[in-house]
Amino acid sequence: MGFPTQRPRRLRQSETWRRLTRETRVTCDDLVYPLFIVPGVRVRHPVESMPGVAQLSVDEAAVEAKRVLAAGVSAVILFSAPDHKDPQASAFLDPNGLVPLAVRAIKAACPEMLVWTDVCLCSATDHGHCGHVLADGTIDNDSSIETLAKVALNHARAGADAVAPSDMMDGRVAAIRRLLDAHGRANTPIVSYAAKYASSFYGPFREAADSAPAFGDRRSYQMDPANAREALREVELDLEEGADLVMVKPAGPYLDVIRRVREQVSVPVVAYQVSGEFSLIKAASQRGWIDERAAALETLTAIKRAGADLIISYFAPDVLRWQRS
Ligand code: PBG
Repeated sequence: MGFPTQRPRRLRQSETWRRLTRETRVTCDDLVYPLFIVPGVRVRHPVESMPGVAQLSVDEAAVEAKRVLAAGVSAVILFSAPDHKDPQASAFLDPNGLVPLAVRAIKAACPEMLVWTDVCLCSATDHGHCGHVLADGTIDNDSSIETLAKVALNHARAGADAVAPSDMMDGRVAAIRRLLDAHGRANTPIVSYAAKYASSFYGPFREAADSAPAFGDRRSYQMDPANAREALREVELDLEEGADLVMVKPAGPYLDVIRRVREQVSVPVVAYQVSGEFSLIKAASQRGWIDERAAALETLTAIKRAGADLIISYFAPDVLRWQRS
């Protein structure tokens, strides 16, 4: 029995009907907002390729955290771009480094804000790769995961509510879990960037985090964009190693992967709407070619509809503000 008995438009005829029959909603409990920490005091340095996003000194990060908390954001994820870069990523092992200081400052300014920290080596290494580089230019997986675990412990000791390894080395979740547990941090969750693709959409971020590789690319550790089954394997391995949440990144071009991961696991699935996804919408809207608010909400809704429980997005505070107006 089809038309004229069946008329799907009946439930679309008013905004109230549309609201009552809506299947997916993006709420303040779904969004995580990234912050970029840089050295100095009272620094708010705009990231040119990401309109509205700024690199912040520790004091300004606390101010920003308060501002976005008031907008309804309940979690932030911290990145940093230290001045000092060396092969060991030693800036990330400093208990008074940018991320530990920012964690403490944000928790002091807004204790109820959840503070996640990105764990990777790329913005503290002189070569800009996510792990240690050997003399022949290859990445040394097994020494890298030992350093990554120390970085994670450094963040956990500062009071991070979760650590999020984004390096894509094999075995890093287990190495981090082992070190955290051995040092009394059994309650710190690990958000694993489990299916992270070697994507061209990270370009603007690398300006914000000053983390572009000095040579080569990240394809020997990040995933081939053509592979979806492999994402399920990465997720499965990270869960065996002790991941508490798993992430798919980028989000918009990988909705099928989000859906398949959602169907395979019972832990929360996080999707990262990355810098390039954000900047595309910003750039087009600045030219008057697209409506920023509608496009941002549509992409976030689609990411949730695909199965993401949480979304990391540079639009987070704006979206929550738009929804209230
Ligand atoms: C660090 C890292 C990257 C992003 C998050 N963590 C960049 C990369 O892997 O090159 C990208 C985030 C974004 O583009 O918004 N490894």
